[in-house]
Amino acid sequence: MRSGFGGIIFGIILGLLIPALAAYAYFRFGYAPVATSAAPMPFEKMAAKMALKARINSEAPKSAPIPADEPNLLAGVQIYRQDCAVCHGEPGKAATNIAKGMFPNPPQLFVHTVSDDPVGTTYWKVVNGIRMTGMPAFKPALSDTQSWQVSLLLANADTLPASVLSALSQPMTGAANAPAAAPGTNSDTSNDKSGSISPKHSGK
Ligand code: HEC
Repeated sequence: MRSGFGGIIFGIILGLLIPALAAYAYFRFGYAPVATSAAPMPFEKMAAKMALKARINSEAPKSAPIPADEPNLLAGVQIYRQDCAVCHGEPGKAATNIAKGMFPNPPQLFVHTVSDDPVGTTYWKVVNGIRMTGMPAFKPALSDTQSWQVSLLLANADTLPASVLSALSQPMTGAANAPAAAPGTNSDTSNDKSGSISPKHSGK
């Protein structure tokens, strides 16, 4: 009777030890993929997707605290062009060299839009990033309002007004002087010196 009980315990320990050793060996002896071009680990995609979804379901805000109006969308364009386009691309342009070499590939967000995700889901991803994918967390870099502005832009990517679309497709160089920046910088018409703005432009 005693030995039968011991046998069960032994069996349990062995049952735990073998998979643990196998998993250790898988990583220790170089079977786990580490190059970005390698195929995903068994269950890697499923586990990562499941964990992400569960966390977002419990944490993402249900709605945006600011409206998807033109000023917010234009502000979103500036943020997108500066911080996101290098990986997520621009409308009508091929994926960048950086995007092509990443694993997982960053989705080209004006080709495969996230317009059917709740905006709170996109906001959660922008703020927190997505671990081990190259998707950065922007919490340290963007204000809460900025994170919402760029999330609103993406959530409405299928139905953007013409002004916002044209701001998105400005050439990258000289983006700081693009018309999209005007509402923020030119709104104060009481500025006497505005007449001399073009000669002094480079001095800004
Ligand atoms: C260095 C590259 C990189 C930059 C810069 C980047 N991302 Fe990402 N992003 C990724 C990758 C890679 C993924 C895919 C993650 C995955 O497969 O789960 C991703 C995923 C996403 C997703 C989820 C897409 C989906 O289909 O569910 C959103 C939304 C997103 N990023 C928004 C942004 C925004 C907004 C910015 C800029 C503020 C940004 N990203 C900047 C690499 C990047």
